Order: sequence, then C-alpha cells, then structure tokens
Amino acid sequence: MAIQWFPGHMHLTRQAMAERIKAIDVVIELLDARLPGSSANPMLAQITRGKPALKILNKQDLADPVRTEGWLDHYNRQPGTRALALDASEAAPTRRLLAACRELAPTRQGLARPMRVLICGIPNVGKSTLINTMVGKRAARTGDEAGITRSEQRFVLEDGFYLWDTPGVLWPRIIVAQSGYHLAASGAIGRNAYDEQEVALELLASLARGYPQLLTARYGLEAGLREEQALEVIARKRGAVSAGARPNLQKAAEILIHEFRGGSIGRISLETADEYAAWLSQGKVLEAERLLRKEQAVEAGHIRPARRPAGSARSR
Ligand code: G4P
Repeated sequence: MAIQWFPGHMHLTRQAMAERIKAIDVVIELLDARLPGSSANPMLAQITRGKPALKILNKQDLADPVRTEGWLDHYNRQPGTRALALDASEAAPTRRLLAACRELAPTRQGLARPMRVLICGIPNVGKSTLINTMVGKRAARTGDEAGITRSEQRFVLEDGFYLWDTPGVLWPRIIVAQSGYHLAASGAIGRNAYDEQEVALELLASLARGYPQLLTARYGLEAGLREEQALEVIARKRGAVSAGARPNLQKAAEILIHEFRGGSIGRISLETADEYAAWLSQGKVLEAERLLRKEQAVEAGHIRPARRPAGSARSR
C-alpha cells in the first residue's frame, strides 16, 4: 500500500526520544490490541533496544480475547518484557501499570532513585485517554521544565514515579503490506493517505479468514463470496445505492471501516503473533530488494540519491 509521509516532526520526535531514553528505566509502548504487531513502532525498537519494556495491549474491549491472550504470552516470553491488556473502562489502571514497571526495574525506588518511564504509541491508540485516567488530580503536568523539550511532557504519577509522554507518531515506511491496511482500518492513518475501498477489501478478506460468522451475523454475507461481491452485498443491505441502483462501494467501504473501528461487527483481532512474524520476514526481504534496486539505479545514474525529507508528518 503506497503511503506517503513527510516525516519532519517524526525526525524531531526520534531525536528527542533517543536523547530522553538515556535516562529512562522502562519504556511503555501502547499497542492496539487488534493489531499489536502492526501498531508497534519499528523506530522505537531501534532506539530502545535493551531497555525493559512494558507492552500495553490497549482497546482490549474491541479485540478478540483469545488472540489477545496469545499476544500477551508472546510478549511475556521475551526477556525484559512484560505485557498487559487494558481498555478505557478500567477505572484505575495505574496500580497495575506501576506494579509492572516496578517488576521490570526493581532497583528504582524512592526519591533518590526515581522510576523514570517513557510512554509511546501510534496516533489514536488511546494514549491521551490512558494518561488522563492515570494522571487525574494527583499528578502534576510539568512539561515546561528545563531539559524537557516541547515534544514531550512529564507527569508525576506518585512520589518517585515519573512518566514522560511523547507525541503519537508513525514511521516513514511501512514495509509490511498488511500493516498498512490494518493501521488504516484502525484509524491510525489520516484519511487522505489511503483508499477506503482498498482497505475495506483487505479488511473483508481478513474477516472472512478469521471471523466468517461475524460477517454473516452482521451483514448476511455467505461464505465463498469474493471481497468485491461482499462489499456490494453490504452496500445493498445498507441502502448505499447510486443512480441506476448501482451499489455505492465507497459508502459501503466507509460503513464497514466505521463499524470495525467501533466494534459493532464484534471483537476482532486482525493478526496473531505467528502471522505477523511471517509477514514481517517477507516485508524485510522485499524491502532489502527495493533498497538494492534503488542503490543500483543511483550507481547507474538513473536516479539521484535521496535527500533528507523536509516538512511535517501527516499522520491523522
Ligand atoms: P491518542 O491520544 O493515542 O491519539 O488516542 P486517544 O486517547 O485520543 O483515543 C483515540 C480514540 O480511541 C478515542 O475515541 C478514544 O475514546 C478511543 N479509546 C481510547 N481507549 C480506548 C479503549 O480502551 N477502548 C475503546 N473502545 N476505545 C478507546 P474517539 O472516537 O476518537 O473520541 P471520543 O469518541 O472518545 O471523543
């Protein structure tokens, strides 16, 4: 899927994070429980390599609970890593979150050795909602202190427990094709950067593989339909027809994506850890081939070497 970025602010955020990470004890990454692999920022993995990591699978209320368990097991097996599933209905998530951080960095205790935590996540993953719930009235927002850049904010969750927030960013090149579709379906990517019908067709293919019964229950779709036919059925069922009784596929695509985002089709996860691992290794091979072709084209003088991009990232 071709997604164009203008990653100016992403470079700034990356620099600020790389600087901040030096004095951080635990990195919390908020993931979308419906697409944990696709919503994990590969740029973050590079910057934070070796730091204790807490993965929060957020919006678990929208995700398939069985698949969420599988992802939690997957992360909890990794060294220096803990994983929790969460959703906005949890009134007091702080206790669980703090306990997980303390488990990851047990020597950080008291005011002399405060716990310093960085929280990151892609746009729309629910970071502001979580921070607002945690911060409540107890914590102070101290973003204007010296040494804290404008791209980050610091909160005091309790004495000796500091949380640095970072802007929600995506990365410049999504090398796993499925991830582009999943991120777009989830609402992480701005509307202008993708084609709704293309995303809806991929979503239908994914749902037909994993959740055919939900498609039948919601839209009366029979098994064995091609995705285009399925979208037509949805259009007719929802009265999305243009002049001449032609199904309005654009409207149907928007309905499908909207209902997926809101959870009205059912609790759905678009990927398992094994599936994602296979897509990622395929994506890496394709990316390496692309870079090689580009290098050869530069050497042959067919194209100029890439310049550092300017401008700001268009995410949401
Ligand atoms: P961000 O800071 O990471 O960009 O995300 P933010 O908290 O603004 O949340 C993005 C959307 O996700 C919001 O919905 C928010 O209500 C919703 N959300 C956050 N956490 C959860 C969760 O655990 N479960 C569910 N189901 N939704 C969650 P919105 O429609 O953009 O705004 P609004 O309707 O809340 O005003």
